[in-house]
Amino acid sequence: MKKEYEELNTTKVNITPEQWNRYEEALRKRVRSGRFEHSKSVAEEAAVLAKKYGANVDAAMLAGLLHDYARDLPDSELLSIAEENNLVSCWVEEKIPLLLHGPVGAVLIKEELGINDEEVLEAVSRHTTGAPDMGKIAKIVYLADSIEPLRKYKGVENFRRLSRINLNIAVFEVMNSSIQYCISKNSLIHPFTLEARNKLLYELESINLDFKELFGRDVIG
Ligand SMILES: [Fe+2]
Ligand SMILES: [Fe+2]
Repeated sequence: MKKEYEELNTTKVNITPEQWNRYEEALRKRVRSGRFEHSKSVAEEAAVLAKKYGANVDAAMLAGLLHDYARDLPDSELLSIAEENNLVSCWVEEKIPLLLHGPVGAVLIKEELGINDEEVLEAVSRHTTGAPDMGKIAKIVYLADSIEPLRKYKGVENFRRLSRINLNIAVFEVMNSSIQYCISKNSLIHPFTLEARNKLLYELESINLDFKELFGRDVIG
């Protein structure tokens, strides 16, 4: 595919207003209008979280803006791009190709927009399922996707509150809720989400936090 935009450095992402406008326009052509507004809102929320947790703000905003780049592709196209690029990691993705819009989006923004920053690509790739050992930008975008101000669902206020206290706890609770939602709908659960949730739980246990105060209950039990 033709590369239309200049490449970003892999260490420090620094986006000019002109680049930002071009990325927005590229996204606008790819997604429907509601998704476009959601994406801009995720970028703004990711910036707030990046400032709070000491991450590169431009990288977080860019990954937030482009996280759903492939979200409006049909299942057949998601699957064929994923297969061409060896992105299919388990049969659950073949059953629910929508789960591939993260990994496929990462491939497309690399090919079409010249984005090479590994943290940005990881964040876009993992934003739907999560993954064990996600980097900070990936956690920020995963969380921002769930709590951006346009999101309205039961429990979102609690996730917003936790997002201002501890990044890992907030991500952990969003993952728990996403797993509970899948169970309530009798849906398949992606193994990455389970692995990520388990890993976070054991990392959180090793630090001295008052879980009862934060959650109103013990984490385990
Ligand atoms: Fe998404
Ligand atoms: Fe999203």
